[in-house]
Amino acid sequence: MNKEEYKFSYKVFDSIEELPKEDGVLLNQARKETKNSYAPYSRFRVAAVGRLSNGEIITGTNQENASYPAGICAERVLLSSASSQYLGVAIESIAITYDNENGESNRPISPCGICRQSLQEYEHRQHSAIRLILGGMNGKIYIIDSSSSLMPLAFTSDDLK
Ligand code: THU
Repeated sequence: MNKEEYKFSYKVFDSIEELPKEDGVLLNQARKETKNSYAPYSRFRVAAVGRLSNGEIITGTNQENASYPAGICAERVLLSSASSQYLGVAIESIAITYDNENGESNRPISPCGICRQSLQEYEHRQHSAIRLILGGMNGKIYIIDSSSSLMPLAFTSDDLK
């Protein structure tokens, strides 16, 4: 028997002012973008703003539905938009934030399981890492160098071969 170990590390910043400038700009844009979320059911407004390798900025917000499972997370709205409109252009970084109208928005959230699966497939397709900048409307910020690190032992297209 061998015991394998998986190491996960991420950077923690106390506030947006501490971030590298480009990351702070992206997170600020995401904070503004939360207003474009359609979240009448959860009142939890999520926004994802991505910077592409060609300098373009793309956005996604969660889009809910009266038939709850039909709703889609901000991260996957962003990935669909990148794949449809910027095929072949890599996503370098994504800032993800939220405005919780029911409570506080003062700590980072990280992508749900389905979004982690989608993010790791996107990385695999583009052959480069997607950095994640995770923060609330204020408070601490996490930077994760590669979104796939959130999904150890992921099921990938390689498994279908
Ligand atoms: N949501 C996202 O958009 N991204 C996440 O990473 C977590 C959750 C959305 C889904 C739903 O519209 C609302 O937040 C509450 O779960």
